[in-house]
This record gives sequence, C-alpha cells and structure tokens, in this order.
Amino acid sequence: MASLAVSLAGLELRNPVLSASGTFGHGLEMQHFAPPRLLGGLVSKTVTLAPRPGNPLPRICETEAGLLNSIGLENRGLEYYLREIAPAMRAAECVVITNIGGERIEDFAELAARLDGESAVDALEVNLSCPNVQGGKLPFATDPRTAEAVLRRVRASTRKPLLAKLSPNVTDIGEIARAVEAGGADAVTAVNTLLGMSVDWRTGKPGINTVMGGYSGVGVKPVALRCAWQCVSAVKIPVIGCGGVASASDVLEFLAVGCRAVEVGTSCFSDPSHIARLPEQLAALLEGAGFSDVNQRIGVLGKGQATPACRPPVAGHA
Ligand SMILES: Cc1cc2nc3c(=O)[nH]c(=O)nc-3n(C[C@H](O)[C@H](O)[C@H](O)COP(=O)(O)O)c2cc1C
Repeated sequence: MASLAVSLAGLELRNPVLSASGTFGHGLEMQHFAPPRLLGGLVSKTVTLAPRPGNPLPRICETEAGLLNSIGLENRGLEYYLREIAPAMRAAECVVITNIGGERIEDFAELAARLDGESAVDALEVNLSCPNVQGGKLPFATDPRTAEAVLRRVRASTRKPLLAKLSPNVTDIGEIARAVEAGGADAVTAVNTLLGMSVDWRTGKPGINTVMGGYSGVGVKPVALRCAWQCVSAVKIPVIGCGGVASASDVLEFLAVGCRAVEVGTSCFSDPSHIARLPEQLAALLEGAGFSDVNQRIGVLGKGQATPACRPPVAGHA
C-alpha cells in the first residue's frame, strides 16, 4: 500500500486528510461514521472565549453547487471546551487541532494561553475570518498588519504549532500568507469560505438570514486551489488546502499545487463517512498511477509554472 504519511509544522500525520473546522463537530461526535484512526487529523469547530448563540435562522442553505452558511461561530465557549471536549479528545487516535476565534487580538492570545497546557491539543488553527470589532468589523484576515499582529500575540502565548487559516476574500492572499509567516505561523490553511449570497426572486427573501454568508463545497474548489497555490508560492511554511475537496483526486490536486495536507468540509454533510474512505482511495489512486509515496506528488505543479504575481487574464481580454 502506498505510504500516505506526511509531516507539517512538527506534526506527523498518518495521511493528509483532516476534517475542516465547523463541519465535523469537534471531531469525536462523528467517530461512528469516521473513526479518527483512519484520518490524518481532526480540526475542531471554532472555540471562542465566551459561549456564542450564533446567528438567527435560517443560517444554512443549499445552492446549485455547494452551501451558504452564516452560523455565526455558535459554540459553548472555552470553559466548556476545556472541561467537556478536550479530555475526551485525548483518546482520539489522530492529530487534534483546536480552531480558535476572537473579536480582539487579546481574545486570540488568551485562548492560546489557556489551551497551551491541554495535552489533547496538538496544534492550534487561528481562524482569521472572525470580524475584528476594534477594526471596523472587517475580518482579521483582510489586513496583513492585523493578521500578523494576531499571529505575533498568539505565538507569544503558546508553544503549540500554529496554523493560520486565511480568507479567500482578499485581493492578494500571498501578501496575507507572508504576513502570518512573519508573525510566527508554522503553517497556513487556505482557505475559509467565499463571501456569497442567494435570493428567492419570488418571495424576495434571502437564502440565509444575514443575506451574505460563507460559500463552500464543490463550487469553490478552483478558487481554493488558486488561493492555496498562491500561498505555496508566497511562503516557506507548509500550506494545508481547504475548499471543495470531495474525492481522492481532489486531495491530489491540492497536493500537486504544493499543499502538504487538505481539510475536508462541506462534502462531509452529504456523507460523513466518506472522509474516512478518502485515505484508502488516495492510496489506490497513487498505486494505480505507479507511485509508492504520497510525498512524491506534493508540489509537482512546480513553483516556476507561472508567476502568481502576474495579472490574471481579464474576462473578455484573455
Ligand atoms: C456550516 C459550516 C460551518 C463552518 N464553521 C467554521 C468555523 O467554525 N471555523 C472555521 O474556521 N471555518 C468554518 N467553516 C469553513 C470550513 O472549515 C472550510 O474552510 C470551508 O467550508 C471550505 O471548505 P469546504 O468547501 O470543504 O467546506 C465552516 C463551513 C461550513 C460549511
């Protein structure tokens, strides 16, 4: 069987398939569908300092190719996570990554400091798509200085490996990736959801209560792949791809552009057990193509294929 083990940011993953934050509970809720021993890692739902009720309903709706959501980071807060979730996660037979979110830079620092001593947690993923209440409610991920400042404060608050999760809703994601690398991130996760919306023209009602929300699923894969590649091209730290992964060949596409692992989100909603089958499907695809180790496919696109700094063709002027 082809070797699937990959390493990144000091973490040894048995395979490059992780769950994506917010789509798989904190991880163990899904163990009867997807035993953790089959996965590379589990990424928790975003944990915030205080409990959050989330946004009013409806806060999720289907589109032609994927989901729109505005859950609003509903979660029971850090105390609950430390008391009820983290101790159980110690039994998870895979890498455990806790995703953290805040409204102020200090929130992220406090979360990181409090989680630093928790043995169940192997790494932290910093959700930079949270709105910055001290910065006009724009997400931290949209400004390189703010994104760097968050990582710098979190870095000073924990010894755990840090993944910075970026937003695709920016002009130059490579610039943000460089900023979080400078702030001390050990890896980049690319990407969170794309800003989208839907409307029923008959009723005039939006698909979700907040009108605009996060778009995810198969429709976003080309955008996520482009973002991941731009990050790979911009930084030396490893990149984890995320967005629209639904099959083993999707996993290999993200690896081909240079990602060391992927996170699988929306496709888990239609079948929460499929993520656990991806590793063996990945091994079969590799073997069928004559490869014995998944690492042989990482970065095969090559950084020199094109320069991400070059202007993309303008529609109609390609
Ligand atoms: C219902 C839902 C809830 C999500 N909640 C979070 C979250 O709490 N924190 C986070 O960083 N990302 C969250 N995400 C984003 C996913 O982790 C992922 O980045 C995004 O959906 C793209 O991957 P996908 O197309 O495989 O779903 C959520 C996505 C969905 C669909």
